[in-house]
Amino acid sequence: MKANEYITLEEVYGAHNYHPLPVVLSRGKGPYVWDVEGKKYFDFLSAYSAVNQGHCHPKIVKALTEQAKQLCLTSRAFYNDCLGPYEEYVTRFFGYDKVLPMNTGAEAVETAIKLARRWGYEKKNIPENEALIVCCEGNFHGRTITIVSLSSDPDAYSGYGPFTPGFLRIPYNDVPALEKVLEEHAPRIAGFLVEPIQGEAGVFVPDDGYVKKCYDLCKKHNVLFMADEVQTGIARTGKRICCDHEGVHPDILILGKAISGGVLPVSAVLSNDEIMLTIKPGEHGSTFGGFPLACKVAHAALKVVEDEKLAEKAAYLGQIVRDFLKAIPSDRIQSVRGKGLLNAIIIKPKEGKEAWDVCMELAKNGVLAKPTHRHIIRLAPPLVIKESQLMHALEIIRKTILSLDE
Ligand SMILES: Cc1ncc(COP(=O)(O)O)c(C=O)c1O
Repeated sequence: MKANEYITLEEVYGAHNYHPLPVVLSRGKGPYVWDVEGKKYFDFLSAYSAVNQGHCHPKIVKALTEQAKQLCLTSRAFYNDCLGPYEEYVTRFFGYDKVLPMNTGAEAVETAIKLARRWGYEKKNIPENEALIVCCEGNFHGRTITIVSLSSDPDAYSGYGPFTPGFLRIPYNDVPALEKVLEEHAPRIAGFLVEPIQGEAGVFVPDDGYVKKCYDLCKKHNVLFMADEVQTGIARTGKRICCDHEGVHPDILILGKAISGGVLPVSAVLSNDEIMLTIKPGEHGSTFGGFPLACKVAHAALKVVEDEKLAEKAAYLGQIVRDFLKAIPSDRIQSVRGKGLLNAIIIKPKEGKEAWDVCMELAKNGVLAKPTHRHIIRLAPPLVIKESQLMHALEIIRKTILSLDE
C-alpha cells in the first residue's frame, strides 16, 4: 500500500482527534524512523519524549520479547515475579519508599490527584470533600475529564463540561501568585501540581529557582509538591528528573512515557509511605497497572538510561543544540529555548508561513518535528543520538530554515 492509502484509511475509519504530518512510518532504530516508501528521517519528536532510549532499543526489545513468551498479564488479583523486583528498582532509582504503577501519563496524574486529596483528608484534616489542588495556567496533564477540568486551553476542555471541581489555577512561573493562593487557602489545599518545564505549552522554561521556591512555599504551608515529569522526566532535560536541576525531591513524582522507552504504556506515581499508604487495598487500581510485561520493559528501559548515561548526554548535547540554533542567521527564528534535549524554536510567521510549513519542509529534508501552538517547533530527538548524527540533523534544520528565506 502507498502512503496515501494508509492516510485515507485513518481518515475514513479513525476518529479525527489528531492532525498528523502526512508521513507514514513503518520502522524505527535509534534516532531514525523510515516511512513506507523507505525514506529515512531523524525523529525529532521522540513520540513526545517517550522514546528517549531510541527506537527499538535492543535491550528493551529483548526484555519485552522474553517476557512476552513467559507471562504477560496476571492482574493484581495475584502476585507475580516481575512486579516486586521492578518496584524495588524504580523506588531506589528515584529515591522513594513506594511506587504505584499505572499505564498512561493521564492515569498517573489522576492517581496523583487522588493520592493528594486522600492525604489531605487523612493527614492534614481537610474537611470532607473540600480539598483543593493548585495548578498552573498553560498546563498539560492529559485528557481525562478531571484533567481537562484544570486546563486553560479551550481546545482541551471546550464542550466537555461539566468539569471536576476542586482546582485553583494560578499563572505559571509566578512565585508570588503561589504565595498568595497558599496564604488565602492553605488549610484546604492538599497539593500544588506543576510541570517543571511546560512541554505541551511550548517548552516554557520557568526562571531559575522557580521550582525550589515553590517547593519551599509548599513545605511552609504543609502542601504536597506534585511534579508532573511525564514529559520532562527520565533524563530528557539533562538530569534524571527535571526537579533535580534545583535539588528538589517532589512529595509526589509523576512519570510516564520514557519510563518504558516508549515500548509500552507504563506510568508511575512515586511517594513516601506517609502519603502512599493512605490508599488501601481495593481503593485504587488498574487491570494492567504493574503488569509483568510492563515491569520487565520499564526495568530494562531505566537500566538503559543509567548504563548509557543518557542524562549526562542530554545535558551535553542540549547545549550544542541551543548554541547552534541561536547562531542561524534568520529573522524567522524569534527565539530558542529549552533544557537538555527538550528544546523549541519560536517561529515568527513570515510571508504566510508558520511553524507547520517549516515542519513540512523539515520532513521533506529528513527531519521530523511537530509544531505546537502554531508558532513553536519542539525539538526533542532520542537521547541516544550520537553527536555526529545530531550535527547532521542540525545542519538540515539550518539549511531548511535558510532556504525558506530565499
Ligand atoms: C506533562 C504531561 N503530563 C501528562 C501527559 C499525558 O500523558 P499520556 O498522553 O500518556 O496520557 C503528557 C502528555 O503529553 C504530558 O506531557
